[in-house]
Amino acid sequence: MAKERTVFTCTDCGGTSPKWLGKCPSCGAWNTLIESIAESTSPVKNRFASLAKTAEIAVLADIEASDIERTPTGHEELDRVLGGGIVEGGVVLIGGDPGIGKSTLLLQALDSLQRAGENTLYVTGEESGAQVALRSRRLGLDRSQVKVLAEIQLEKILATLDATQPDIAVIDSIQTVYSDQLTSAPGSVAQVRECAAHLTRAAKASGVCIVLVGHVTKEGALAGPRVLEHMVDTVLYFEGDTHSQFRLVRAIKNRFGAVNEIGVFAMTEKGLKGVSNPSAIFLSQHPEPVPGSCVMVTLEGTRPLLVEIQALVDSGGPSPRRLSVGLDKDRLAMLLAVLHRHAGVACMDQDVFVNAVGGVRISEPAADLAVMLSITSSLRGKPLPKGFIAFGEVGLAGEVRPAPRGQERLKEAAKLGFSVAVVPKANAPKKPIEGLTIHAVERVEQAMDVVRGLG
Ligand code: TYD
Ligand code: MG
Repeated sequence: MAKERTVFTCTDCGGTSPKWLGKCPSCGAWNTLIESIAESTSPVKNRFASLAKTAEIAVLADIEASDIERTPTGHEELDRVLGGGIVEGGVVLIGGDPGIGKSTLLLQALDSLQRAGENTLYVTGEESGAQVALRSRRLGLDRSQVKVLAEIQLEKILATLDATQPDIAVIDSIQTVYSDQLTSAPGSVAQVRECAAHLTRAAKASGVCIVLVGHVTKEGALAGPRVLEHMVDTVLYFEGDTHSQFRLVRAIKNRFGAVNEIGVFAMTEKGLKGVSNPSAIFLSQHPEPVPGSCVMVTLEGTRPLLVEIQALVDSGGPSPRRLSVGLDKDRLAMLLAVLHRHAGVACMDQDVFVNAVGGVRISEPAADLAVMLSITSSLRGKPLPKGFIAFGEVGLAGEVRPAPRGQERLKEAAKLGFSVAVVPKANAPKKPIEGLTIHAVERVEQAMDVVRGLG
């Protein structure tokens, strides 16, 4: 095949250069040029003029809005994050650390879909067909009819998709796919971007649902290309600690469903199994309360989850460390400043570590109050009372702001046997919740006083 011309395009201004340069010749930005395939240039001026007549414009109200048809994957927790199932022509990006279970989950899903009569294709670039077969045996999918293609060249993958017309195709992984139209190495930003763009186009044109598997780099971004997130319809991320049994899959973008929805799985001998009632899995079981531990109710997605926040405050050196796992580090610094200014709790000369148990990542500010209470508890060496929960956002002025859907959070905590809650005033329920004593607070110092009063 004749090589098409490639150009280097600036990711900032869109300017182009025929060869790679460190600095964009148009806008002067550094390190922004990325190789891509040049569009063929036509000698005819205004070459789109004739096309304008053929394009049809419709009034919004006249366009028939049909509900999107979804095919369930047969795995309830996966369907939950997908927004009900796979969608014709939809492109899903699924990212996560190596070994977290991406290939396992997708193979299980493909097998269920195949059994339900869908035509499936698993394109593997990381493992051989034999390795995939080995995994399928391990998963107990002995007579699996899933079709496997071990191929990494984009053009061949596209040709196979065209020839076999599957309903769903998994590309495991997008980083191994390369196009021979580009000179850059497989896995480079240029290759990943170009290949994903071609596959997306193929999905839209033929109606096949394509799932792209992507690796996450150390920085936490899908290798190189955050650009992929813009191209696809749905972005799912695996979260969780590879050492723990539980895995979370979170939808961070979804054109066909709700974002922030969470699917919970447990890794077993026979692959990933959905956990239908996950609210208590992120609690460590202390027989007696320990200092530095505070349980919060987080509500990212539609289900409340109880998560234990742990803090360790210990005397540090001249430049004490602040470390957070699963929580925002900048927010931790802010909360420490608020604690000092408004509640008189000083951690200036202390190392502060905070951790959300179970490898779950909490991005909602409703964790603030639990973080502050666990820090104070660790600093003073005093545990919070048994059966205690707290949630609420804390502002720079020391005010405690309400968390969305506070009632639901409180009800879940009561259901799991928690008995004392410190919550923002606006979240206090009008009717009492059985078994739960609720302390409504407006300010951080008030929350500290309540806790001191509880002994
Ligand atoms: P894998 O699905 O290969 O991860 P990824 O594609 O995200 O890199 O990861 C599987 C991990 O899970 C591996 O460490 C082995 C383990 N595992 C099980 O515990 N049970 C199983 O049934 C399977 C197939 C894998
Ligand atoms: Mg894999």
